[in-house]
Amino acid sequence: RKNLNIGLFGFGVVGLGLYEVLQKTPALKANITNICVKDKNKDRAISADNFTFDKDDILNDPNINVVVELIDDADAAFEIVSAALKKGKAVVSANKKMVAEHFTELLQLQKEYNVPLLYEAAACASMPIIRNLEEYYDNDLLESIEGIVNGSTNYILTKTFAENLSYEQALKQAQDLGFAESNPILDTGGFDAKYKLLILLAHAFGYIAKPEDLFNIGINNIGDLELKYAKEKGLKIKLVAQAYKGTDGTLSAFVIPKFVTPDDRLYHVDDVFNGMITKTSFADTHFFVGRGAGSYPTASAVLSDISALSYDYRYEYKKIYREENLKLTDDVELKV
Ligand code: HSE
Repeated sequence: RKNLNIGLFGFGVVGLGLYEVLQKTPALKANITNICVKDKNKDRAISADNFTFDKDDILNDPNINVVVELIDDADAAFEIVSAALKKGKAVVSANKKMVAEHFTELLQLQKEYNVPLLYEAAACASMPIIRNLEEYYDNDLLESIEGIVNGSTNYILTKTFAENLSYEQALKQAQDLGFAESNPILDTGGFDAKYKLLILLAHAFGYIAKPEDLFNIGINNIGDLELKYAKEKGLKIKLVAQAYKGTDGTLSAFVIPKFVTPDDRLYHVDDVFNGMITKTSFADTHFFVGRGAGSYPTASAVLSDISALSYDYRYEYKKIYREENLKLTDDVELKV
């Protein structure tokens, strides 16, 4: 196993989580060498000596062989990640918007500079889905994936439904618990779920799409009427990201709120949990579940990527390079 010297960008909920989690895992020889943050005046949980405000202090440090990018701004994140890859540093990122918007460029950079970029934390936090899609379903081909991939909205739906909190109260709780994006419309409008679905599409089906290619409807228009209807009928409402192959080489993918019945596994995925059902040619179905947001759960996915780098793991993007030639279609069959 390689020794890893980490340059960390960002020290928010996940950055602090990672710092603490790494202190609890000394067997993994991974040390945070330097941390780059934006705001000079913020009070932080650890001593000021640990921080720099100049990204080049990390990017130009030859001893740093891994960059972990945990900042909020997707454009700034892309700049940092591409600069790090060009300098031959392996990168771990949790930024789903950045990965989804720049998938093709990031693929190209990894190839050109022969360095890995891992981002398990970008989709469904602690629920281990990307490497499973990439590795496990290599020959047992996937027919569909369907799941709850946003923790904040599942938390809000659970609290408004079961505990009768108002939408605003539930959203405030999701923010206070560190689940929500800094701009919560990304969660409530289904955009965050769409970015994650785009990442999953590439690893599940080898299909690279852009955010504007898929439609997303969020939970922000769900009102008392829908909640009342669901309660009366014994249903729940879940924000579901879904993708399935058609018989004619087509692929449908979208994010919508759905009524789900108690015999649907997703019905039982509540609070901040994420859940995903995969259907395959031979294994029938699998069901994944795990915490979809929060400090330690997200840090656990980053930790898993860091550990994977210590034995030189990289995504091979097998299905992309195998070129299944699926065609994205707008013809969706909504089974509500
Ligand atoms: N805002 C995201 C969510 C964070 O609630 O799922 C984890 O990706």
